[in-house]
Amino acid sequence: MTQITITINGERISAEVEPRTSLADFLRDDQRLTGTHLGCEHGVCGACTVMVDGVPQRSCIAFAATCDGSEIRTIEDFDDDDVMGDLRDAFTAHHGLQCGYCTPGMLATARDIVTRLPDADEKRIRLELSGNLCRCTGYVGIVNAIKAVLAKRKG
Ligand code: FES
Ligand code: FES
Repeated sequence: MTQITITINGERISAEVEPRTSLADFLRDDQRLTGTHLGCEHGVCGACTVMVDGVPQRSCIAFAATCDGSEIRTIEDFDDDDVMGDLRDAFTAHHGLQCGYCTPGMLATARDIVTRLPDADEKRIRLELSGNLCRCTGYVGIVNAIKAVLAKRKG
């Protein structure tokens, strides 16, 4: 077992983990933060995307032990976040979700786009979203939602 101390959604936590425990399993099974979804479990679909030290990361291919000392934010930490609030409204208005399975990871990436790339055009949005797969929507609604939030924040 490996001793780790990490901050999750603003709370500092010490725990013992198996060296090969993924960050996703640690968040979901140990911390009961089930808003982080698991799809492919090998780094392809992006459903498990969380923020690690401010950067989107696939938590299924990150070991919890290697996140020792890091600051993690999961979808549960964004209830009062203005950008995430705008994105949630826009995803609803533009039909950016159907089953919702991809949505926590999609929103994490979308928020990163909006905050990091305020001038992103559709081509750049699609490029940035290329690591998040959605089997339901065809992506048009998701892209339009992000474009709407970028436009709102500029205006
Ligand atoms: S579950 Fe992590 S990338 Fe698919
Ligand atoms: S809304 Fe179903 S996978 Fe994206």
